[in-house]
Amino acid sequence: MGLKYLSKLIIMKTTAIAPSNIAFVKFFGKKDEQLRLPANSSISMCLSEAFTQTTVEFSSALKQDDVSLIDGQFSDQEKKRIVGHIDRIRKLAKLKIYCKIVTHNSFPKSTGIASSASGFAALTLAVTAAAGLQLSNKELSILARLASGSACRSIPDGFVEWLEGETSESSYAYSLYPPSYWDIRDIVAVVEERQKKVTTTDAHKIAVTSPFFKARMREIKEKISRLKNALSQKDFAAFGEITEEEALNMHALMLTAKPPLLYFSAGTINLMKAVWSWRRERLPVYFTIDAGANVHLICEGRNEAVIAGRLKMIKEIRQIIINKPAVGARLTDDHLF
Ligand code: PMV
Repeated sequence: MGLKYLSKLIIMKTTAIAPSNIAFVKFFGKKDEQLRLPANSSISMCLSEAFTQTTVEFSSALKQDDVSLIDGQFSDQEKKRIVGHIDRIRKLAKLKIYCKIVTHNSFPKSTGIASSASGFAALTLAVTAAAGLQLSNKELSILARLASGSACRSIPDGFVEWLEGETSESSYAYSLYPPSYWDIRDIVAVVEERQKKVTTTDAHKIAVTSPFFKARMREIKEKISRLKNALSQKDFAAFGEITEEEALNMHALMLTAKPPLLYFSAGTINLMKAVWSWRRERLPVYFTIDAGANVHLICEGRNEAVIAGRLKMIKEIRQIIINKPAVGARLTDDHLF
């Protein structure tokens, strides 16, 4: 962090890097829209190859916030959401000056990897540090959650649990295990590069309209404890089965919501069927799918090469991104401007 006072000109610059994350037990539906309190707790892993780097510089010379993206553009709506979050932090730090922000994603847009999770986690860490706030990981996670729910899971390292909580202070994510705990992979198979038509924010809103929502809520706590147990035992088969069952459960709710929502494309379905047939051949690989068409294949490190090789044979796949478990948000001196 650089803090310089040049007569009356105040300049404070910091850069943060934060990973995206993939959820094994999903955040689907909110119990408080304003505070972004989720309907249930969730469990995820930070991703090594999908991260956002953000540099922030507060300057008393600026007349408004200046927000830009390297290799792309933010829509007006995205800019509004980013500035809204900066305002939240400015208020906390009792700062009255504006900032310049430059952001870079390691992964291309529209790959079905949540850039809002990595983006808002990096923004939260960079802006709070530049504003002179020294926050704990728990406080950063709470603040990131207010900007984008799953961003709170990109603050802690490795394998993470987001506690649903009943209040803003009790809804945050913490690290269950460091990245080195378990050598597993999330191979993202991109089958759709177009922007999705229905946003995740809208998907959360219709969750409760599915007749299966209550059934999901009845069994979710038990599912979380089964997944935590599989994690603690490093029981990959149990871990994969619960992860896949959970993704199908979430998409079954989308399909039966009012109005119904279907994110899958033909490529998604072909890949799901391929995974099932590979398992019948005793290749341990499972899938999970977020609010999009792209498929995340979960496997152990020792099977990465064989699975990556098989994916090359599937015609709908545009690209693959191979992720290991990663650390959470951190500061760096590698400034983008
Ligand atoms: O944090 P949001 O609002 O982008 O929601 C994320 C929702 C899912 O990706 C579908 C599931 C999850 O837990 O990441």
